[in-house]
Amino acid sequence: MRAVEVAASGRYEVLIGSGLLGRAGELVRQVLPNAEKIAVISESTVWPLYGEALCRSLEGAGYEIAVRCVLPAGEESKNGMSFLKILNSMAEGRLTRSDAAVALGGGMVGDITGFAAASYLRGIACVQIPTTLLAAVDSSVGGKTAIDLAVGKNLAGAFCQPARVICDPDALSTLPADIFTDGCAEVIKYGVLRDSALFAHLEERGGDFDLEYVLERCVSIKRDYVCADEFDNGERRQLNLGHTLGHAVEAASNFELSHGKSVAVGLAVVARAAAARGICSGECAARIVSLLEKFGLPVKTDLPMDALYTHMLSDKKRLGGTVNIIVPEEIGRCRVLPLAVEAARDFMEAGF
Ligand code: GLY
Repeated sequence: MRAVEVAASGRYEVLIGSGLLGRAGELVRQVLPNAEKIAVISESTVWPLYGEALCRSLEGAGYEIAVRCVLPAGEESKNGMSFLKILNSMAEGRLTRSDAAVALGGGMVGDITGFAAASYLRGIACVQIPTTLLAAVDSSVGGKTAIDLAVGKNLAGAFCQPARVICDPDALSTLPADIFTDGCAEVIKYGVLRDSALFAHLEERGGDFDLEYVLERCVSIKRDYVCADEFDNGERRQLNLGHTLGHAVEAASNFELSHGKSVAVGLAVVARAAAARGICSGECAARIVSLLEKFGLPVKTDLPMDALYTHMLSDKKRLGGTVNIIVPEEIGRCRVLPLAVEAARDFMEAGF
């Protein structure tokens, strides 16, 4: 088992290891010795695979499963109605402030459960058990929790660090290939951001990479950003590499293109644009694009630039008239490029 320690406003470990899901009860008990009741929140594709085994393990460690809430799978469930449903179930189950929520699933489940845990009784503990690669390397770590509003994704939420993250690579191995590939875009992002050895490992091994090593490296890099800037006021924004355009692609496609694939397009465009402006070498951009292609990820889009530009302007991370674009300087090193909104459009166009 590997453990990555996160020393943010709450200190916790991300545990990574085969078979950990079956030991969840004991691993939760280590960090929540006084909790009595647990609310387990999951979704309809994950629950039949792991839900009962998780509950058995928690019961074996002496917990009462006071809430079993299984949301319909999909981002559409990350809404205010589901949020209230979870809160009401917690209240009906009579959870107290020393009790806890456990999120079993991908980013949707982790985000909404974290936000419900942060809100119920003004905050109870939450343990994250990610079951997608994307959730394992990104959303389960770092304490961002949220629900979507009608106007956009993740518009209501809270920073609330989990009590522990339990990541069992065996659970990721049952993912449909397409969902696994989606997570690979974020994995490649970490290599470009901070880790040329990770990037080289992915180039050498392609989809047959060493999953535990890759999970540990990605979580460690994310940990470093979170510890440096927990509340996302500066350095943590680098995690947005590929996301400024990626979010625009995702929204302009009416969410038909998945998050990971949209981020892949964003990464490729920003890499080509950075090379066109002399910020990184042509070779660096070519390596990024060809690694994305090696993983079967898209590297261009036919969506009209006007639509992408409109969505780019509504990016949550925009500060006044400035768009902060994260650009690669070389593999393993990136920086923030602040651009006026019109200049950001020109910059992106250079990468199409
Ligand atoms: N997903 C980006 C962050 O946690 O900051």
